[in-house]
Amino acid sequence: MLKAVFDAYELTEQMTQPGAEDYPIWGYGPWVEFRKPFAEFMGSTVDQMAVLRNATEANSYIANGFDMKAGDEVLMSDEEHGSGEQPWNLRAKRYGVVVKKFAMPKPPKSPDEILNRINDAITPRTRIIFVSHISTATGVVLPAKEISALARSKGIVSAFDGAHVPGMMKVDLNDIGCDLYTGSMHKWLFAPKGTGFLYLRDESVMNRVWNTLATGGWDDPTRKADRYMQIGSSNIPTMMGLNAAVALAQSIGIERIERRHRQMTDYLHAAMMDRGAQSWTSPDATMRCAISTVNVPPVSRMELEEWLWKNHRIRVRGGDPSKLRLSTPYYLSKADIDRFLEQFDAFRKMKGVA
Ligand SMILES: Cc1ncc(COP(=O)(O)O)c(C=O)c1O
Repeated sequence: MLKAVFDAYELTEQMTQPGAEDYPIWGYGPWVEFRKPFAEFMGSTVDQMAVLRNATEANSYIANGFDMKAGDEVLMSDEEHGSGEQPWNLRAKRYGVVVKKFAMPKPPKSPDEILNRINDAITPRTRIIFVSHISTATGVVLPAKEISALARSKGIVSAFDGAHVPGMMKVDLNDIGCDLYTGSMHKWLFAPKGTGFLYLRDESVMNRVWNTLATGGWDDPTRKADRYMQIGSSNIPTMMGLNAAVALAQSIGIERIERRHRQMTDYLHAAMMDRGAQSWTSPDATMRCAISTVNVPPVSRMELEEWLWKNHRIRVRGGDPSKLRLSTPYYLSKADIDRFLEQFDAFRKMKGVA
């Protein structure tokens, strides 16, 4: 992927375009060649896919642009990432829309438990449901298809923050049936930093999402999703890196990648349960993929995090005081996970809490 990006920087600075108006290849076009491979990888079409810079930007496009009046409600979970929640808080403060939250069960035992909480929190003013497809806090995979169907049955727009999804799990966006979906490709797909996306199901939802940035083309509905990615001069080498990242995932096969993610997380999760950890992810293995979150009091997660990184070059993250968010990208081997477990045990012994 890096080579694709570096080569692209060389290529795009050479000014080799034949026609006087072919200059520059760094902005304003429909960029089908960069959107199409990723759109198809995600089970959508190029007309539905705007490639943006990250999930934060895509979430902001929805929160800023979705057609709502003061007093209308957005319903989200209490586990949204700052980049999912804060764009809505901005809209609320500036324009008076109302942010309503439902509490995610910790941990959820079944998809229905989450669905029921959403259903119970819907009011006559709910205009849009905005939730993560995979919770960044707990790794729980929410039932996106069922949430989309519930929203649709009540005339509510469904939007998902799928920041962790591309490259972690196989998804078919059109099969999910949601209206809007966002994400980052720089996380699990290993695309360059500065690649994210906004999926818009069809023209009826596009007609309800105002553009946030505008240059030529923003008001041309025939352009479909690409009018949301007209941001002026852009970083085309990142797009070339995106194509390389998609090709890598396809060469391995996303089904194989997902299978491995699940195996490794199940293995690590079970090993942490054996050590007396409390699970914050779901006990239902179908509701997690490559992230599991466990609570390990009285271990200080920050102390452990620093110690593991400085002494063993093992990176974990988490939440204070004792929550560990454990990720198992497919390039890890079982031996790597065992090395973490060994060092986790050593740390606890050192602190006298084993
Ligand atoms: C659920 C979720 N949404 C949004 C983001 C922000 O992603 P980005 O930094 O690519 O904008 C993250 C980052 O971890 C996330 O976990």
